[in-house]
Amino acid sequence: INHLTPKSRREILELLVNGLKRLEYRGYDSAGVAVDAADHKDIAVVKRSGKVAALEELLQERSVDLALEDCVDSHCGIAHTRWATHGEPSALNSHPQRSSEDNAFVVIHNGIVTNYKEVKTFLENKGYFFESQTDTEVIAKLIHHLYSQHKDYTFQELVEQVIQQIEGAFALCFKSRHFPNECVATRRGSPLLVGIKTRRRLSSDHVPIMYTNNKATRGVVPSVPRVNSHAHFEPEEERDVEYFFASDASAVIEHTNRVLYFEDDDVAHIKDGVLSIHRLSGNSNDPHQREIQTLKLEIQQIMKGNYDYFMQKEIFEQPESIVNTMRGRLNFANGTVTLGGIKDYIPEIKRCRRLMLIGCGTSYHSAVATRQLLEELTELPVMVELASDFLDRNTPVFRDDVCFFISQSGETADTLMALRYCKRHGALIVGITNTVGSSICRESHCGVHINAGPEIGVASTKAYTSQFVSLVMFALVISEDRISLQKRRHDIIEGLHELDSKIRQVLALDSEVHALAQDLFRQRSLLIMGRGYNFATCLEGALKVKELTYMHSEGIMAGELKHGPLALIDDSMPVMMIVMRDPVYTKCMNALQQVTARQGRPIVICEDGDSETMSMASRCLQIPRTVDCLQGVLTVIPMQLLAYHIAVLRGCNVDCPRNLAKSVTVE
Ligand code: G6P
Repeated sequence: INHLTPKSRREILELLVNGLKRLEYRGYDSAGVAVDAADHKDIAVVKRSGKVAALEELLQERSVDLALEDCVDSHCGIAHTRWATHGEPSALNSHPQRSSEDNAFVVIHNGIVTNYKEVKTFLENKGYFFESQTDTEVIAKLIHHLYSQHKDYTFQELVEQVIQQIEGAFALCFKSRHFPNECVATRRGSPLLVGIKTRRRLSSDHVPIMYTNNKATRGVVPSVPRVNSHAHFEPEEERDVEYFFASDASAVIEHTNRVLYFEDDDVAHIKDGVLSIHRLSGNSNDPHQREIQTLKLEIQQIMKGNYDYFMQKEIFEQPESIVNTMRGRLNFANGTVTLGGIKDYIPEIKRCRRLMLIGCGTSYHSAVATRQLLEELTELPVMVELASDFLDRNTPVFRDDVCFFISQSGETADTLMALRYCKRHGALIVGITNTVGSSICRESHCGVHINAGPEIGVASTKAYTSQFVSLVMFALVISEDRISLQKRRHDIIEGLHELDSKIRQVLALDSEVHALAQDLFRQRSLLIMGRGYNFATCLEGALKVKELTYMHSEGIMAGELKHGPLALIDDSMPVMMIVMRDPVYTKCMNALQQVTARQGRPIVICEDGDSETMSMASRCLQIPRTVDCLQGVLTVIPMQLLAYHIAVLRGCNVDCPRNLAKSVTVE
């Protein structure tokens, strides 16, 4: 939403579409925009199934009726890229959703409305006809209904009433024909921020919050006393300002690095270049302002540069990203490790009953990868849990548990729900995330930012290795004063010191891995076996292959081979095995023999120059040796590269695999 900064409609639409492209990794099955129509009296909604590029084409085709060359001083537009939860991807189900044929109210939504059926029934009884299969449409119709009842309400008051009637998770942005040049946005459970761009430096870093003491009434029939508020944020006298609401900072960073993160149930209203934040029923402990932050994010960090895909760039960034994870934390000279975000909690952590590591997808695998070392160095029981399953089981959690929530985005709904569950049970909450300001960061007692830099490719790569390194550093911190562990700690710190150069050596295998991919890409299946410190690589490698290539792939614990998976082996089943010279080497060699004895032809990832192992393999990838507990950082990289090359050879969209989204903010 801009105010007094003249822009052509073309510029406005370009700005919206570019923002969508930056956010496309969050969902990409359909997209849409709503802007003021050429005559300024109406709202034009343009939507299309498919990627943002398809929407862009459609906007171009409609350039005449959208009056692209018209210049306007003030404008409010909203745009959305979708990852379907309710209703198939189609133009009709895309957002913005509308209240009525005349587009009186339009809304975009990230999240799920869990009580949409009740709200829909209520509205149908009021005569509303629903055109889409989405849960979001009830929001558009509900605000319309409220408006028809309360014509004197402000836009923000209407939205405050709407969010008292809906349950679930949401970030919402509203635009209305009845409130031209105004925009209202709100969140609960799903991320939302506003970027603020002004010509001059802001005079204040804080935006006041206005509370009302009116208690919220829940239930479908809305009847809440109205709210009056006067607190607002006026950036400059002449109010020459642009505001950018977005789900994450990558959409706004090219315009401004001044950003304010909203909290659950904040209702933000922009009118006449003024931002105001409203909340229902405050109590004395509630904050009275929100801080505007200055982000360090650089636009180059979210560009592909010379790479074909973000994922490829992120794989090749790993020598630098793991160094960034360790920067300022690991002192190689004197062997000390400092994690500023948790240091005040170390005594409490050392006294705990057990550690629980909880995450989803790749983040969960980083917990699997480091569990053994955590057990060894902390001498505590360590549970690793998939957030969804952990919640399904109502797992017992105690006040003296320390629960780690590992999440690249910091927004994954399952992980966030598990965090809240553990918090309710009184456990200490430690967040391990890559996204400063994310919900998991904010709701944790303490934590570690993995500092891998923005990760855009849907399949996680550099975040995994940085999560891995962060958890290793945590184990080092906890064991700092254990005399018996000093030699081990020293070896690990040495290993971390050399890790970036060893990652570079592994990345140099790219063309070998490409050749392997050429042999494998027509296969239907790929089994990946290993055990001990490298089991996580099997799970993570198989996940990468599945996500990116749509080929079946399974990570198999080599110890379980004889209990079932061996039945899959014959001379045509593609099998990869990870066999390193670590404490389970002999057992891995047994597994290798069991496979070759059944005419299997394993492709082996092994240590440089290990001729004994290589003699058993049909082909191999040799990687440098490091400390056993860090080896997984190196073994996973050929798997990332392999999945990448197979995906390219199969013609798959590497950065946007079908049916997936980078940040899954719904349960
Ligand atoms: C989604 C992504 C995965 C990711 C998982 C957990 O499924 O597609 O790549 O590993 O979420 O995400 P998080 O942001 O919590 O690490």
